[in-house]
Amino acid sequence: MRKNVIAGNWKMNKVLREANQFVEEAANKAPTSDQVEAIVCVPFPFLPSLVEKAKGSSIKIGAQTMHFEENGAFTGEVSPVMLNDLGVTHVVIGHSERREYFAETDETVNKKAHAAFRHGLTPIVCVGETLKQRDANETMKHVEKQVKSAIEGLSDKQVAETIIAYEPIWAIGTGKTASSEDANEVCSHIRQVIQQVTSKEIAEKVVIQYGGSVKPANIDELLGQSDIDGALVGGASLEVESFLQLVEAGTK
Ligand code: 13P
Repeated sequence: MRKNVIAGNWKMNKVLREANQFVEEAANKAPTSDQVEAIVCVPFPFLPSLVEKAKGSSIKIGAQTMHFEENGAFTGEVSPVMLNDLGVTHVVIGHSERREYFAETDETVNKKAHAAFRHGLTPIVCVGETLKQRDANETMKHVEKQVKSAIEGLSDKQVAETIIAYEPIWAIGTGKTASSEDANEVCSHIRQVIQQVTSKEIAEKVVIQYGGSVKPANIDELLGQSDIDGALVGGASLEVESFLQLVEAGTK
């Protein structure tokens, strides 16, 4: 049985005081259930403090990107070694905003997935189509290419531990959610693609999240689908109340 993984992606929001307050409260109130895992993926400057605050609770702390190299002359970048050293457990890779504004490509996503596993981090790999691609019936083909190249060269065990987040770009921050059936259709396709590359046994273990305007009002329906195992959440993860409601939904 797969767990539900609810991950908040704060993007470039909050200051340290607000971040600390959020995690203190979330750490106190988050349900401890084997059925759900709760992660908040936060800006780099908050990581050391939030890892401390989350200690002993069910909340895990993730980063929103990283470089694939361990160290070196990469001004402004943060390496997987640094994240692991801080006690960070997860890292978002290939978010559509990174692909669009910061030159993330399928190739760098693959390098980062390998680097994450080399350094004890679980990658949350984002894939998803634009509205133009959806309208041109290219969703499945596009997502298939992104998934295949992200997991290329990973061992079966690593693939099984990879979290895939299907985030249709047109649904991010727009208030438009894919219908839960449409989202599930793409998530099922992603599982089939993983099965082709590995095996049914491995594909059945992979956690596939949906992301794009997820909120307390639509989470139950999304999690009720056969191939949706959680959510990657932007806006609704910024308020501790709504984040905890989403985590609570994941316990059912
Ligand atoms: P919203 O939940 O704000 O639509 O953002 C989704 C997202 O991009 C999460 O990574």
